[in-house]
Amino acid sequence: MTVVIDHATANDAGPLAILAAITFPLACPPTSHPDDIAHFIATELSEERFMQHIADPDKILLCLREDGHLLAWSMLVKGLPKDEQVRSSLSIFPTIELSKFYVHPSHHGQGSSSRLMEASLEIAAQGNGAEGIWLGTNDRNARAVRFYEKHGFTRVGAKTFQLGRNVETDFVLERALG
Ligand SMILES: CC(C)(COP(=O)(O)OP(=O)(O)OC[C@H]1O[C@@H](n2cnc3c(N)ncnc32)[C@H](O)[C@@H]1OP(=O)(O)O)[C@@H](O)C(=O)NCCC(=O)NCCS
Repeated sequence: MTVVIDHATANDAGPLAILAAITFPLACPPTSHPDDIAHFIATELSEERFMQHIADPDKILLCLREDGHLLAWSMLVKGLPKDEQVRSSLSIFPTIELSKFYVHPSHHGQGSSSRLMEASLEIAAQGNGAEGIWLGTNDRNARAVRFYEKHGFTRVGAKTFQLGRNVETDFVLERALG
């Protein structure tokens, strides 16, 4: 079994959309409406959207593959957060966002997530000029919050996130790089 973590290419856009459709619902609170989740997947996690992310110089998409099969992915976004709630919560600048972090459920709790996190932190610290890294995760996604805290993130604030008809609350977490 060979595990590789590398940068996504245009060929990954299709498999990333398939994996994202499986994993995004796992990050949503139980009150999210299925139609809203489906709409978000169709619009924000489509193959076309992944093509745009992969081509964007301000975004870094990492893929974890086991024997060539895509099992997990993360996305870093360079630059100052657009959201004022987030900017005022952070204390380490320059910063970079860990915008997406998703692992296939067959591989939760088996170390793949930690490997991808270590690689994501390493890439974030390399050559992007960032001193800190931040992320948002739903306040009821206890597994994710615990996972991020294990990896040195601490809760520094909250922000709202519109998912269809509901306004959800995300915790904002931050840690230093390096
Ligand atoms: C979030 C995610 C990346 C974490 O990866 P993982 O392999 O599941 O993480 P780990 O098993 O290493 O760590 C999870 C921790 O949460 C704990 N945990 C599990 N369920 C929990 C719960 N309901 N409440 C609190 N803690 C919980 C685990 O025991 C573990 O802690 P421990 O190592 O101290 O025992 C993965 O679960 C995932 O992809 N989830 C679906 C998508 C998602 O939510 N992504 C994050 C979006 S911001």
